[in-house]
Amino acid sequence: MEWNESTRRSFLKQIGAAGAIAAAAAKADGLSMSGAQNEAAPTSVASQKQAATRDARMKWWHEAKFGMFIHWGLYSIIGQHEWSKEIEGVPIPQYEILAKHFHPKPNAARDWARLAKRAGQKYMVMTTKHHEGFCHWDSKLTDYNAMKQGPGRDLVREFVEAARAEGLRVGFYYSLMDWHHPDGATCKTDEAARRRFVDYTRGLIRELMTNYGKIDVLWYDVSWPLTAEQWESERMNEMVFGLQPDIIVNNRNGLPGDFSTPEQHIQASEVGRAWETCMTLNDSWGFNRGDDAWKTPKQVVDNLATCARGGGNYLLNIGPEPDGSIPPDTLSILESAGKWLEGNGKSIYGADRFKGDWNTNANYTRRGNTLYIHQHYWPGHTPAAEWLSFFQPEVVVAIGGLKAKVLSAKLLRTGQKVDFTQDEFALRLTGMPLKAPDEPATVIEVECDVEPTIDHEEMRSKWPREKVGISV
Ligand code: GLC
Repeated sequence: MEWNESTRRSFLKQIGAAGAIAAAAAKADGLSMSGAQNEAAPTSVASQKQAATRDARMKWWHEAKFGMFIHWGLYSIIGQHEWSKEIEGVPIPQYEILAKHFHPKPNAARDWARLAKRAGQKYMVMTTKHHEGFCHWDSKLTDYNAMKQGPGRDLVREFVEAARAEGLRVGFYYSLMDWHHPDGATCKTDEAARRRFVDYTRGLIRELMTNYGKIDVLWYDVSWPLTAEQWESERMNEMVFGLQPDIIVNNRNGLPGDFSTPEQHIQASEVGRAWETCMTLNDSWGFNRGDDAWKTPKQVVDNLATCARGGGNYLLNIGPEPDGSIPPDTLSILESAGKWLEGNGKSIYGADRFKGDWNTNANYTRRGNTLYIHQHYWPGHTPAAEWLSFFQPEVVVAIGGLKAKVLSAKLLRTGQKVDFTQDEFALRLTGMPLKAPDEPATVIEVECDVEPTIDHEEMRSKWPREKVGISV
């Protein structure tokens, strides 16, 4: 199959639909770890300077683990995914009419920020300009902006103030690709157009980096049709860091930046490289009236744990309606995740990368020598288990191949002590209630003597086979 932009999009759509499957697959193979990234090593003095300050700049972000992505723009009025201009071939003059009819309710961003807070998210990243080219702020460089069109207000300022009011970090999504600007496509082959377009882009980013105080994340997107050299991305980042010394930037301007951005799937980068999975809550980033493929709270919590387990972050998207309202399903799913995090956040925030084998019934996270078992499928009775009395069925959460001595165990939400036995093959958490104590996953906090890891293969070779009852 020829791999072009449209196959890329249908592929993205497919993996969007199969988000849960992708996440499950990532888990089944022990969380896929990518090898070499498709990104060049930093060579310039500026990139080396950014590398030197990276740990300090990213400390809050590593702790945060969970963020809210917001896709909101003129496409929200059409309500058929943020690519509808291209997908449905809407001519620019017709699309521009939407700008006059974009009338968000006052301070819609406050509701998003309050929801993010309730959901346990620690930062927000909003589309300041998506591929459609419409700027959500009071730009001096184009009239195609929220101040001069329908809203008559600076929506970026409202967003920034709303996030800060809830104590959340602020991120700007910015699409380099621009379907509206006259030079947005011709810049690929026309040098004069490229010069104008790169200067325009630089000017817009300068406004964003200058007029809204301290910004925590710059989230570039789609660098088509230019290369990093043509975008002058090094110079662009240098300007960004000159204006916002503490900011972190992603890798979608053709440079490695501070973190990788797997999309619609969970993939850990190599050790030492930060990463963030961005994912839709249904199949669309922008509001899509007919898209009812919502993830369940269980999938959201499990995806979040899978990201935390690989030392990464989870940037989960909402697509507000044209007036900024939050779709009801979005609200209830995020609120459920937030309720779970209220009692189980210790297993997520600040988690370290966990090295260990997979488990279909549970997920794992780790902080130092503490293992968190996220049991999402509760075991129920195990009456046939040999190590239990057949007549006194008991619920046991068993973990094979744990390579650490367990010192104590308890249910994370309630603090209730959990009894256990342990031998060289398994940890068995005994006397558990019949019904799962927590939803969508019960977390058991297990203190170990060293960093816990799980290795099934090692256990396999040690397993005594000489006393098996059935001869081969
Ligand atoms: C893709 C899509 C875009 C979306 C982005 C989020 O690049 O083209 O619509 O904003 O993913 O990561």
